[in-house]
Amino acid sequence: MIPASADLEEAVRLLQAGELVAFPTETVYGLGADAANPAALARIFAAKGRPADHPLIVHLPGAGHLEQWARDIPPAARKLAEAFWPGPLTLILARSPDVPRAVTGGQETVGLRVPAHPLALALLSAYARAGGGRGGRCGIAAPSANRFGRISPTDAAHVREELGDAVALVLDGGACEVGIESTIVDFSRPGLPPRLLRPGHITPGQIEDAIGERPESPDGARDAAGTPRVSGSLRGHYAPRTAMRLVASGDLLRAVEQASAQGRRCGLLSRSPVQLPTHSRRRLPDEPQAYARGLYAALRELDRAGNDLILAEDVPTGPDWAAVADRLRRAARGAGA
Ligand code: TXA
Ligand code: MG
Repeated sequence: MIPASADLEEAVRLLQAGELVAFPTETVYGLGADAANPAALARIFAAKGRPADHPLIVHLPGAGHLEQWARDIPPAARKLAEAFWPGPLTLILARSPDVPRAVTGGQETVGLRVPAHPLALALLSAYARAGGGRGGRCGIAAPSANRFGRISPTDAAHVREELGDAVALVLDGGACEVGIESTIVDFSRPGLPPRLLRPGHITPGQIEDAIGERPESPDGARDAAGTPRVSGSLRGHYAPRTAMRLVASGDLLRAVEQASAQGRRCGLLSRSPVQLPTHSRRRLPDEPQAYARGLYAALRELDRAGNDLILAEDVPTGPDWAAVADRLRRAARGAGA
């Protein structure tokens, strides 16, 4: 699965030429471009069909590159980076003055992360060795490599399905370990506590253990002007095309019967061993990390299987399941749109 170094050299050459390269991270696949090159960034927005005021995450080879992109970095942010980088954590920090507007969506902040996938790290260090991008700045801007609002890709085939020829090269690193997007923590508000903008694999409890402070909850992830600060916080996101409903375990049978009475073909996404007469079904492990790993591939399969309705068995409340619950809620809200 890990490509030969010739592929990495080609990827670096393409990035430096302002082209798009998709690559695996431990969370989901990213659609990468030189974060210092506005023309390359415009290609990301065009390929995804993403509105230009949605900021991008810049991927770095290591925390040593933070100062190229951010300023006034609080000690707690550095501590968190030390604890979890490389890993599924994005920090929102005050941006350096010369970070292109396209990266920040016009905001004064920038999202930064060091991914843990060996191939992402190999790409980032090859890029750094080759002198990085425009002006010698070394960062690869990469949103999830899906069309705007759709299910994030967790293997290379999903990327090709989503973006086809819009991407010059797809580096294939197999299926993503984590399976849902990184935890985003906002450290950009001087004098205010850190804030969790997107729940993920790294939980508020783990963050508190690392910095001695629990991040504020994601509420109010829109700023006063109503600018969408986190596109994953929009109502319909991570969504299949098929309509989708979240159903409590005890109500599944009734929901399936009701749908069949209406002549609708149902796909079931379950985690308990229920046996129901649905058109198609996918069962995921009843454990949050394993569930997250399989979630997007399962949604894609159910989306493709000719269902009129996807019924997803609800997941437990509580911090361990919070990131999965967040993605399921948004998928259900956006589905069929
Ligand atoms: O796991 C991940 O984070 C993946 C992989 C590829 O690294 N990337 C990812 O990117 O999920 P994307 O663009 O699909 O989602 C990034 C989120 C968006 O919701 C964006 O609004 C938010 O991060 N974001 C980026 N920069 C930000 C900033 N300066 N302030 C607030 N939110 C920001
Ligand atoms: Mg995304």
